[in-house]
Amino acid sequence: MDSKGLEMKGISMEFPGVKALDSVDFSVKTGEVHALIGANGAGKSTLMKVLAGVYKNTAGGIFINGQEIEIHNPMDAKKNGIVIVYQEVDTALIPHLSVAENIMMDYLIGEQKKIFIDWGFIQRKAKETMKKLGLNIDVNRLVSELTLSEKQMVLIGRAVFHEAEYLILDEPTAPLSVEETDKLFEIVETVKKRGVSVIFISHRLDEIFRICEKITVLRDGQLVGSYDVKTQTIDSIVEKMLGRKLESTFPKHEVEIGGKIFEVSNLSGEGGVENVNMHVNAGEIVGISGLVGAGKTELVKLLFGATSRDSGEVLLNGKPVSPKTPAEAVKSGFALVPEERRREGILVHESIETNSTLPTLEKYCNGPFMNSGMIKESAVKTIKTVGIKAPSEKQLVAKLSGGNQQKVAIGKWLISDADIFMFDEPTKGVDVGSKAEIYKLIGDLVAKKKGVIYATCEFSEILGLTDRVYVMYNGTVAAELVTKNTNEEELLLYSTGGGRDE
Ligand SMILES: Nc1ncnc2c1ncn2[C@@H]1O[C@H](COP(=O)(O)OP(=O)(O)OP(=O)(O)O)[C@@H](O)[C@H]1O
Ligand SMILES: [Mg+2]
Repeated sequence: MDSKGLEMKGISMEFPGVKALDSVDFSVKTGEVHALIGANGAGKSTLMKVLAGVYKNTAGGIFINGQEIEIHNPMDAKKNGIVIVYQEVDTALIPHLSVAENIMMDYLIGEQKKIFIDWGFIQRKAKETMKKLGLNIDVNRLVSELTLSEKQMVLIGRAVFHEAEYLILDEPTAPLSVEETDKLFEIVETVKKRGVSVIFISHRLDEIFRICEKITVLRDGQLVGSYDVKTQTIDSIVEKMLGRKLESTFPKHEVEIGGKIFEVSNLSGEGGVENVNMHVNAGEIVGISGLVGAGKTELVKLLFGATSRDSGEVLLNGKPVSPKTPAEAVKSGFALVPEERRREGILVHESIETNSTLPTLEKYCNGPFMNSGMIKESAVKTIKTVGIKAPSEKQLVAKLSGGNQQKVAIGKWLISDADIFMFDEPTKGVDVGSKAEIYKLIGDLVAKKKGVIYATCEFSEILGLTDRVYVMYNGTVAAELVTKNTNEEELLLYSTGGGRDE
């Protein structure tokens, strides 16, 4: 290599039944921000876990500044300056310890063997680290009190304290608000100036064009190529990722909208939902727009009986419903694809088959007898319709890539007979090709005269997919708009609390 940096050559890696990586080459130069992209299941996380010492490659080698290095475990990776921040930041932090203790975790583990711990030093170093990043998080705060983005900052802080030279960020922006994303990108700039190389994984392709210089594309465990960002466009990259052109992001659905099937009046309840009024017609996709924290998730949870109602009325097909639990909600005719799929949406230690047929289990029973053939058939169909990448329907969900786990969460509801389907940020972490598939499936639901409630903070989804939209601000509906008569500016105006004095 002509300049300093890290190189992975001919990396292969197999899981039972899955060739996750097939002789992949990947290299990143010192101080470069490098995007690693590909469809769900392409092998991005696996490649980075090989680099971080979580998985051992079966072929190929890793080189730093031309010298081959051995990485057998995460400690080896750290010694070589390689640090990874996973998407599930919580697993890497200890919630009841302070920010300072979490930043200095490895140091503390090393110090444990000594009799005397210099707490002053830990405080001072942690403060220094945060200052290097231009952050003012109080290092005495407990990690459990931090927002998700602050937790990410703590992990990046830890990497900086270790003087990491290669920082891997695996889908860091998926759960972040626009402001939090901006802050993260500032930090990426800061560490880059310090000579750190950043490997950045994201399904939000516009972000890649904002902060990256190079792009490497993987498809089905193989390298498609590495490119200068300047020579690419979003369309050219999408084509490389999918191996085909994406016809349209938002497939057209022409559905005649019917009468009111769902109506909410003066609904208030847990999570700060206040006096919400809304309705959904048969065959209609109704958007719930608003920024992160506006109360969208709280509203759908309340409608789904996951949280408790203080007052108000909900009518489904003209009849009052007040589910006290999600199970009651399902019986009443609701389905919800929740935001936090790993916590609420799916059982990760069960198979795709179990997960995808669980909400509709009654369908496959004849009295006490289960029809396992039908269960299998239905699971196979779900895998096909939502495009889940897996060796078989028996695969454990924990072993799927992040985006494919999301597809399981969605697929299991699509075959249910609900009347109102609620989606809460369903395309987070889902690749562009599969996003279009999901939109198409939602189009199929409304074609069957179902009602759809689609909560998202992505204005492009509101504008591309919905018929009508409620904009939320501070737990309540700030505006009701007809999608074809509105635009991004107007959505932003109401989302930020504006436009109410007219
Ligand atoms: N622990 C595991 N056991 C078995 N197979 C696995 C395991 N982890 C990943 N795989 C498989 O390896 C392949 C690559 O997965 P990987 O997680 O690297 O994809 P990805 O590119 O990160 O996708 P996403 O965008 O969905 O996060 C997938 O087919 C996945 O199902
Ligand atoms: Mg991944």
